[in-house]
Order: sequence, then structure tokens, then C-alpha cells
Amino acid sequence: MNLCVTALLFYMFQLIHGQPDYLGFISIDCGIEVNSTYQDSVSNMIYVSDYSFVTTGENHGISSDYVKPSLVKRYLNLRFFPHGARNCYTLRSLVMGNKYLVRAAFYYGNYDGLGKPPVFDLYLGTNYWHEVSLSDAGAFNWMDIIVVAPDDYLQVCLVNKGMGNPFISGLDLRPMKNTLYPEVNATQSLVLVNSNRFHMGPTDGSVIRYPSDSHDRIWTTYNAIPNCIQISATSVIQNNLRDVYDVPSSVMQNAVTANSSRIDFSWNPSDPSVNISSKYFFIFYFAELQTVGSNAVRQFDIIINSKTWNKQPYTPTFQVTDYFSGILHGMENYSVSLVATKNATLPPILNAMEMYLVKPITAVATDPGDARAMMAIQDDFGVIKNWMGDPCIPKASIWRGLNCSYPPVGASKITALNLSSFGLVGAISTNFRDLQALQYLDLSHNNLSGPIPNFLGQLSSLMFLDLSSNDLSGPIPYSLLQRSQNGSLSLRVGDNVNLCGNGTACRSDRKKINGTLLTAIVVPIAAAIALFVILFLLCQVLKGKAKRNATGHEDESALLENREFSYKELKHITNNFSQQIGKGGFGPVFLGYLENGKSVAVKVRSESSSQGGKEFLAEAQHLTRIHHKNLVSLVGYCKDRNHLALVYEYMPEGNLQDHLRATSTSKPLSWEQRLQIALDAAQGLEYLHIACKPALIHRDVKSRNILLTTDLGAKIADFGLTKAFSESETHITTEPAGTMGYLDPEYFRSYHISEKSDLYSFGVVLLELITGHAPVIPISDSMSIHIGEWVHQSLDHGNIESIVDAKMGGDYDINSVWKAADLALHCKRDASRERPTMAEVVAQLKECLELENRRDGRRRSLGSNGDDSTCPGEGSALEIEEEEKQQEGEIQAAAGPAMR
Ligand SMILES: *[C@@H]1O[C@H](CO)[C@@H](O)[C@H](O)[C@H]1NC(C)=O
Ligand SMILES: *[C@@H]1O[C@H](CO)[C@@H](O)[C@H](O)[C@H]1NC(C)=O
Ligand SMILES: *[C@@H]1O[C@H](CO)[C@@H](O)[C@H](O)[C@H]1NC(C)=O
Ligand SMILES: *[C@@H]1O[C@H](CO)[C@@H](O)[C@H](O)[C@H]1NC(C)=O
Ligand SMILES: *[C@@H]1O[C@H](CO)[C@@H](O)[C@H](O)[C@H]1NC(C)=O
Ligand SMILES: *[C@@H]1O[C@H](CO)[C@@H](O)[C@H](O)[C@H]1NC(C)=O
Ligand SMILES: *[C@@H]1O[C@H](CO)[C@@H](O)[C@H](O)[C@H]1NC(C)=O
Ligand SMILES: *[C@@H]1O[C@H](CO)[C@@H](O)[C@H](O)[C@H]1NC(C)=O
Repeated sequence: MNLCVTALLFYMFQLIHGQPDYLGFISIDCGIEVNSTYQDSVSNMIYVSDYSFVTTGENHGISSDYVKPSLVKRYLNLRFFPHGARNCYTLRSLVMGNKYLVRAAFYYGNYDGLGKPPVFDLYLGTNYWHEVSLSDAGAFNWMDIIVVAPDDYLQVCLVNKGMGNPFISGLDLRPMKNTLYPEVNATQSLVLVNSNRFHMGPTDGSVIRYPSDSHDRIWTTYNAIPNCIQISATSVIQNNLRDVYDVPSSVMQNAVTANSSRIDFSWNPSDPSVNISSKYFFIFYFAELQTVGSNAVRQFDIIINSKTWNKQPYTPTFQVTDYFSGILHGMENYSVSLVATKNATLPPILNAMEMYLVKPITAVATDPGDARAMMAIQDDFGVIKNWMGDPCIPKASIWRGLNCSYPPVGASKITALNLSSFGLVGAISTNFRDLQALQYLDLSHNNLSGPIPNFLGQLSSLMFLDLSSNDLSGPIPYSLLQRSQNGSLSLRVGDNVNLCGNGTACRSDRKKINGTLLTAIVVPIAAAIALFVILFLLCQVLKGKAKRNATGHEDESALLENREFSYKELKHITNNFSQQIGKGGFGPVFLGYLENGKSVAVKVRSESSSQGGKEFLAEAQHLTRIHHKNLVSLVGYCKDRNHLALVYEYMPEGNLQDHLRATSTSKPLSWEQRLQIALDAAQGLEYLHIACKPALIHRDVKSRNILLTTDLGAKIADFGLTKAFSESETHITTEPAGTMGYLDPEYFRSYHISEKSDLYSFGVVLLELITGHAPVIPISDSMSIHIGEWVHQSLDHGNIESIVDAKMGGDYDINSVWKAADLALHCKRDASRERPTMAEVVAQLKECLELENRRDGRRRSLGSNGDDSTCPGEGSALEIEEEEKQQEGEIQAAAGPAMR
């Protein structure tokens, strides 16, 4: 009960924010009050307002003349679009490459008093879906499309074609397993119009959908079979192992049969757009519902348009779903006959059927990276008029202020952005960084504030940049000035009173720290003396150690590189601490820019921080000695009166935890990326454990402390808790510190720490990478379970798929995941001596990566259908499949000449 309530709350919480719910469903009632939600009486699903999915259009209720008690709530209101040729809904947080069913529903109900429903076109992104045309004011219609998402969002666009204002009543999105409907792939979709999905038997108009159908397909009744008899069963009808349509038992439990030896009916698409060049995809579903006696035979042929689809006389399987499918050319009328064979003693039956229009998906769209960046820029600056649908395509609907390239092959890219006088407020969006083909950027005459970000200098195609007449401050990045000076960039920055660097001085004094200077410094402020002496002594100790150290990884030059900043200088490079990018136990972290254009993260100790000078010094001490590509490196530090700060290299992609639990539009990490991150982190830790003398224990390994570079390389951060592990000791006795969920239980009990404690925490991080879950998983509002326990329990049932992060969309080598999961569980063994060493972990992760890469190679060489055909099927299920494949070929081949 409690679980249900929690689930429901979770469900609503998720939906209100425009995200898919925990089933991955999005259920929108268009035109209801902003932010309102309700539970649908048929499906029990929570429907939400369209507020967070669309930025244009107006709400309206239907005319009271058309309100009927039988009408579901979704049809009582609608959103209509009186302005603009194209208006779009955006469904976000999807998984690129996964399959989805999208359904749009329409009920005109004379909402505008014109008495005449409009006619308009429906698009999915830039692909034509279908025309929406209703026979009369009281007619309603819904249309499904099953597609592979080309990106992590889908857009449903309504296009006005001069025959009235487009409108929409409801919009649903349902995820489908990628193995379902194999006819749907990146270049082909299935469209269902006129409710052509039927459960046979009942003629009472009953509807089957979610929760009976876990994919929420809508199955309606079919009343047009003459002389039919309804039969039904109460036992569950199974799907066989290779079933690719997953029809629910409740649909299959009813069927029609005849009181003669045949079932005959004709079916027509009643769709004026269908002609001989259209393709129709049919699926007929059969299951035996009755116990057939030993001397009785149910056996029949399936004949569509006088072509027999079965090779041998067909007998339905008892309580198991079989299907026959095929593609035919579009025609006005199809005849379907199920004819009993001579030997049969029982009439034929039919349980269910679906008829889809096959629609090609053309790849023509804006480059996904550019499109995503433009949508993110729109989010950053608020709604911009006419920014809807695809940015560049069709050319006639290009977003205001954009110019795009339209190459003969490949995707369109954004080449120019003229956002002068667009009323933009706030910092310059970091999303401009992703527009790699941008040549012209005009942001003049807005209210942009904050620093000029350094990445603008890295836009390699940029030839014109106008930032004039804003409120920007701080230095002009060096890279921009340089490009402006050498003539490769036309730069305008005038009329920004707080900018410096071109003529006006930005510089503040700074000195390089080195050994001799350090010893000579006399600190004038008494309060700082003690602190300083400690730092000094530590440096001396380190220098001595570094000299003795044979590994050669750290030397004095490292120390010399670390720069000392004054507080004033920090204030300057962070633009008066204006852009906070994080918060640690130590205090806030700010983004800053050095005068050479390099971006840095400035970690400032807050006055109230419980972690004081001790940890600060610990971290400074460790960082100055440590140099490794998988460890975040220190650029400098500040120790100015009572201001303490550390300046690091900036890690643009933030921390791993945010990536794993992101609800943002950022692409989910692939399995290969996850393994690479794990390997990077493991190598960083291995260096701490082995290469450093004395060995260092991180003590706070967690996904928050793994930071990512632009290309998703990983580096370990936060050495605040790191303790030197001197050669003479085998363990250190110290009070447990660290983070809940990652803490080594042995260390917690005994206070004895060794490198193996880092292995425990690393094991937890690895499980996070595999599952996408936090270390502590809530299972009800009063109970939670540790990730390790949960994975153990799931793996005991031999089911790895159930634990793997669904965001990966099933796209991984299963053996690689098994191996990683096994390794993770080894790492988090209770007894530390049973855990592997970091070096062993590195070796194992390399093997995991190799398994995954080998699969990648295999997949490429087989083509995209390779995956489906590699696993052997079982028994009769496989035979049915193969039989069908041959038949489909024949049917298509035969239908051609017949239609000519
Ligand atoms: C709707 O919800 C959003 C996000 O929770 C909020 O910002 C907005 O103010 C709400 N609008 C109304 C009209 O309640
Ligand atoms: C999609 O399926 C169609 C028909 O089976 C096939 O011709 C096409 O090559 C497939 N496309 C991809 C990208 O696999
Ligand atoms: C059985 O078939 C006959 C025609 O052969 C028809 O007249 C009759 O209505 C059918 N009975 C039922 C119950 O459908
Ligand atoms: C068939 O219909 C499509 C649009 O639905 C149209 O483009 C095409 O010209 C039609 N072909 C014929 C032969 O009518
Ligand atoms: C379709 O075909 C059947 C039988 O061949 C015929 O009775 C029916 O009138 C046809 N319907 C249409 C709309 O052509
Ligand atoms: C029909 O029954 C006869 C006699 O039992 C058998 O020889 C024949 O193979 C059967 N035909 C089919 C198609 O099953
Ligand atoms: C964008 O395209 C328009 C129309 O083709 C052209 O007039 C304008 O100069 C272009 N702007 C840029 C910055 O390329
Ligand atoms: C920098 O200053 C010089 C001289 O004052 C001026 O000519 C130039 O346009 C300025 N550069 C920028 C990018 O504003």
C-alpha cells in the first residue's frame, strides 16, 4: 500500500516536470489548465497538462453540444494554434535509438463554433505522419506512429495548410522494447490510422489498453464480420519466446469463429491518401482457445486477396499466440478469408489483427548536436517566437535569426546566429559551444552579463563575433583577442562598461611560488603565521620526499608550477565569484578564467565550513605532489589573510553522479563510455595506491568525486580526506570519514583503513555505473536497500538485464556487463583481504572494455539487423518465424504483378 502511494507520488512528481513517468510514459491532455493533472478512469494513468511541452497555441473547451457522458476527459478540451504555419510539442528525456509509440488524439467538438473541422498535417519531427481530417464536428480520431527516436527527444508538429487552425486533444508517448515490431527501424516507421487495431470477438465497443496492454496500445472491437460467433477463454494465453509483438493475453482470450467452414470479410483502409504506392503491413493473431478432442481438427488456410499466406495447413497452438504478417500494396479494399481445410472438423478462428501504413523516415533534419544546442539555448534564454520544431528544416520554417548550411549529403548545420536585440538576459549560454559550424554570431544589443566565456575563442569556424552593447564584465579571453589581432576573427565588444583587457588594465599582481621565495617570505599578518608555517613545513617534507622518490612522477617543477593567487586576483578571475558551479564539504566552487583564456574551478573555503585549514592543507599538500592524467590537477592556491582557496583545472562536464542521474537533456552514457570512465578512475586510484610513495588512500571515492572532461575522460577529485599511508605501517587508525553508502563497513567497525577501503567505494561506483542507481535505493518511504544488496538479490535470480541502467537502451555486450558486475561485487566484499587490488581492477576493466568493443565491431560488420539474428531461437517458435519470412517475401513479390 505504502509502496503504491510512493509510486503514485513519484509518478505525479515526475510528470509535472514534463518528464516521462517511471514507466517511461508521457500522457498529455492538451488544453487543460496549466500544471493540472488527473487520473484517467479507463487506464488509471495520470494525465498532465501540455504546459511544459508546448509554448504556443491557446486552450479551448469543446462546445457543450458535443459533451457526452461517454466522452473521456481528454476530449473535453483542446489546444488550437491560430498563429504560425508550424507548431510543435517536444517530448524530452527519451533514449536515442529506442523505439516509441506516439499517439495523437483529436476531437473537434465544434470548439470554435464554425461547425467545420479543419484539415491539417501532422509531422513527427521533419517526417510526414498523416493528414488529420475529421468527417464531421462530432467525429474523433487518434493516430499512432511507432518510431525509433533519432535523438533524445521527439517533436510532434501540427502544420497549417490553409484549411483551418490545427488543434489537438491528447498526446501520448509509450516506450517499446527495441525487439518489438522489427519492421520499425531508423528508416522506417509504422503508422496506425482509423483505429485499425482490433481484438476480435466482442462487438460491444469495448476497449483494451493499459494496464492490460503494458505498451498501452489501444485495441478496439471489429463489428464487420458476417455470421460470426464469439468464443472466449479464461486461461492466460502465452506469448512464445520469439514473439515480437507481445499481444496481451486479454486481447487473445477472445476470438471469432464461424458456424460454417470459413470466415470471410473485406477490410478497407478508408484513407484517401492510400494508393498503390503506399504499403500496408498486416498482422493476424491466432491462438486456440478451446480444448480440441483427439478426433477433432481445427485446420485452415489464411488467404488475403486470394493469396494463401500459410505454407502448410495451419492449426493454432493451444493457449499460445501465433501470428502471420505481411506487407501489401495500398488498395481500396482487401479481402480476408480463413478457410477450413478438408480434414478440419472445426471452423477457423481469428483472435486479433493490426493494419499499419508503412512510412519511410528520412534522415533529413538539422545535425542532432546543433539541434540540441539550439533547444538548450532556447531554454536558457526563455521562449523565442517561432523557435519550434527543427531549427533548419524545412527551409521555409527556419528559426528566426538562423542561417543554416544545406549540404547535398549530410545534415544541415547552423552557420549564422543573429540574435541582436532579442532581449536576451543573463550569462552567455554555454550551449553556444556546441555549434561547431558557427561562422557568425551576433549577440549585440541585449542585456547579457557576466564574463565572456573562453569557449567562444575555441569555435573554430567563427569569423564574426559581436558582443557590443551588453553588460558583460571581466577580461576579454586571450584566445579571442589573439584571433582578433591576427585577423581571423572580426570581434566587436564595445559598449560593455565592465569589460577590460583591451586598453583598460585587468591585471592584478601575482607571483610564482618557488622554494627560495617561499623561505624568504615574511608573513606580516600574525593570524596567518601559524597556518603558513604548517604549509611551509609540509612543502619542505614533500620536497625531501620527492627527491627521494624513485618513481619520478613528481618533482619540484610541479611545485613551481603551482601559482599563488591573491584574494583580489581570485575575485577578478571569477568575476567577483559570480558563477557558482558546485559545492563541496569545503565550500562553494566558482568558475573562473585565467588571462590566458584557460577556465578554472576555484574552490573557496567558506567561513562556516566545518572542514577547516587542516583539510585544506591536506588537499594542497597532496595535489602539489600528484600528477596523473586521471587526477584533477591543481593550478594554484590562495592563502590571503583568512581566505583559503584552491584553483583547479576546470572539468566542463561536471561530476559523474549528475551524469548518471541526469534528468537533463544530456545524452545518457553508453556502456563503453561508462567502462572508460571506470577505467580512468581506477587508473587514477591505482596511481595513488602504487605510484605514490608513501601510498595515498583517497578515502572518499564516490561518483560525485569523479569529474569529467569534455570528451568524457574521468579524473578523480577531492583529496581533502586523503591520508598518507607511510611505508612502515600497514594500516592507519583514524576516525571514519567519507560518505554514506560508499563507506567500507570494515573500516567503519575497526577504524583501520587501508587501500582496500577505496576498493570498496570503487565497487559501489562501478555498481552505480551499471545500474544508474544511487548507492542507497529507497524501496518505500521508510525503507531502503544498499545497491550491493539489491544487485546481489537480482543476480541470484540470474537476471542481469533487470539491474542494468535502462537508459543504455539494451545496447551493451551482456558478458561485458556480467564481468563488470562480478568485479564490482568482488570489490565490495565485506572482508577487505578478499577484495582485489586496484591493479587487478584496472586489468579486469580493460577486458570488459575489450568485450564491449569487440561487440561493436561485430555489430558494424553485420549491419544493424545483426543483433536480432545472432541468437538461436527455440523449437516451434523459430519455425514459425522462418516460415513467415519466406511467406512475406512471396507475398510482396506476388502482390507486385497482381497490382500492375
Ligand atoms: C507551473 O509549474 C511550473 C513549474 O513547476 C511553475 O514554474 C509555473 O509557475 C506553474 N504555473 C502555474 C500557472 O501555476
Ligand atoms: C529498415 O527496414 C527496411 C525493411 O526491412 C530495410 O529495407 C531498411 O534497410 C532498414 N533500415 C535500417 C536502417 O536498418
Ligand atoms: C449460421 O449460418 C447461417 C448461414 O449459413 C446464418 O443464416 C445464421 O445466422 C448463422 N448463425 C449464427 C449464429 O451466426
Ligand atoms: C499516392 O499518394 C501519395 C501521397 O499519399 C502521392 O504523393 C502519390 O502521387 C500518389 N500516387 C499515385 C499513383 O496516385
Ligand atoms: C470489397 O470487396 C468485397 C468483396 O470482394 C465487396 O463485397 C465489397 O463491396 C468491396 N468494398 C468496397 C468498398 O469496394
Ligand atoms: C488429411 O487426412 C488424411 C488422412 O488422415 C491424411 O493422409 C492427410 O495427410 C491429411 N491432410 C492434411 C493436409 O493434413
Ligand atoms: C543569412 O541568410 C540571409 C538570406 O539568405 C542573408 O541575407 C544573410 O546575409 C545571411 N546572414 C549571414 C550572417 O550569413
Ligand atoms: C581594442 O582597442 C583598440 C584601440 O583602442 C581598438 O582599435 C580595437 O578595436 C579594440 N578591440 C576590440 C576587440 O574592441
